[in-house]
Amino acid sequence: MKRDRMKLFPCLLLLISDVLASGTDKLFRERAVELMKQAPLIDGHNDLPLQLRIFYQNRLSKINLKILNTTVTNIQKLQSGHVGAQFWSVYVPCSAQNKDAVRLTLEQIDVVKRMCQIYEELELVTTSQGIADSKKIACLIGIEGGHSIDSSLAALRMYYDLGVRYMSLTHTCNTPWAESSSKQVHNFYPNVNGLSSFGKEVVMEMNRLGMMIDLSHTSDSTARMALQVSRAPVIFSHSSAFSVCNHSRNVPDDILQSLEKNNGIVMVTFYTKVLACGREVVNVATVADHFDHIKEIVGSKSIGIGGDYDGVDQFPEGLEDVSKYPALIEELLRRGWTEGELRGVLRENFLRVFKAVEKVRNDSRSMNESENEIPQREVQNSCRLHLRTPLRTNDALPISFGSPSVAQTLGLMFITVIYIILH
Ligand SMILES: *[C@@H]1O[C@H](CO)[C@@H](O)[C@H](O)[C@H]1NC(C)=O
Ligand SMILES: *[C@@H]1O[C@H](CO)[C@@H](O)[C@H](O)[C@H]1NC(C)=O
Ligand SMILES: *[C@@H]1O[C@H](CO)[C@@H](O)[C@H](O)[C@H]1NC(C)=O
Ligand SMILES: *[C@@H]1O[C@H](CO)[C@@H](O)[C@H](O)[C@H]1NC(C)=O
Ligand SMILES: [Zn+2]
Repeated sequence: MKRDRMKLFPCLLLLISDVLASGTDKLFRERAVELMKQAPLIDGHNDLPLQLRIFYQNRLSKINLKILNTTVTNIQKLQSGHVGAQFWSVYVPCSAQNKDAVRLTLEQIDVVKRMCQIYEELELVTTSQGIADSKKIACLIGIEGGHSIDSSLAALRMYYDLGVRYMSLTHTCNTPWAESSSKQVHNFYPNVNGLSSFGKEVVMEMNRLGMMIDLSHTSDSTARMALQVSRAPVIFSHSSAFSVCNHSRNVPDDILQSLEKNNGIVMVTFYTKVLACGREVVNVATVADHFDHIKEIVGSKSIGIGGDYDGVDQFPEGLEDVSKYPALIEELLRRGWTEGELRGVLRENFLRVFKAVEKVRNDSRSMNESENEIPQREVQNSCRLHLRTPLRTNDALPISFGSPSVAQTLGLMFITVIYIILH
């Protein structure tokens, strides 16, 4: 009898601890979901519009976005992931630089606007108040890569008018005015270091407009200079921690510290490659390691989430599509993050940044539009037409002869020589 009880005792203990563990498991998941219902996620980066172009040539009439299953984003999944607002990336590849990047970007803006108009579950917003008031999934627009403005502040302003609220200064290519973190992917403007003086002008004009400056994909030197120049908080819309995985896309600790001073945020991304650095298993815990590190260095107020769903092909186990965000929140709760910290990560930190950017815009009302142009020698390419006097009468002039300043100079020399000969 006594021996039986002795045998039973450890079993009972195991049973109790099992019940307790699954009880707390359930508790963490329930708490995560409850929290996300109160504080729906604002995600910094989703590339669904790129997939719509590649697979469907932006023909929304051919698809049902509620249940689309060739992508990892659809409306049902966004709803079960408790996504309250999504920045849709109107990304166009660097190979369009100096070609039709502006047209392609406009077409991507068009498809986002149509998609957010057609579906009653979605709604386009352009202000922090718009996000706060929305009862739907709020749609916001972000440009990924400064090549989309073709070195034109006028183009930048028109994008703002169309509703664009952030621009990543580069994608994987240098622009004539900003350096990318990706080397050897493209060969554009290899001598650009950090931000050129026109690049600083772009940052200042974005401040004046109220467009957020996104430093994901930029080189560390570009990021440092932008942090010096910007009068408003900046974001990294989809980057993780360099100290945890030393991928060039990630943010080193010293820049995190400048970011904290700037009051900006890094929206941690889920791309397996920038999280893992060769680790064999990449799962929710790997992502949480990046969160823990950034919190340790600069605190939870500097953190958001930018999944990059449909922008890359590999995601951690347990975070395969946009319905899976609660798994991450559950893991962070398990690691002792408070609900207050997580409300910040999900939503409030981003809203703080957006409001501060809007405040800088409001305080800039007395400033005029910048009429600066990039120096011609910094953007020389055969696609640019320079319409200024004296007008070229014949567009078929050889390209090598194309710069009006050269034409003018040669013309003047010719006239001078004739004059001298005739006298
Ligand atoms: C994906 O959707 C299509 C069309 O709605 C459907 O025929 C197909 O069975 C779905 N595939 C999966 C794997 O759910
Ligand atoms: C990352 O660390 C590895 C191993 O220490 C090193 O070989 C590599 O050069 C580092 N990469 C970067 C971008 O610093
Ligand atoms: C900016 O100005 C607009 C219009 O006056 C106002 O509605 C908004 O609250 C202001 N935003 C901030 C953050 O100051
Ligand atoms: C802004 O433009 C107006 C009208 O052209 C001009 O009168 C004013 O001086 C300009 N302000 C600044 C700060 O340049
Ligand atoms: Zn990206």
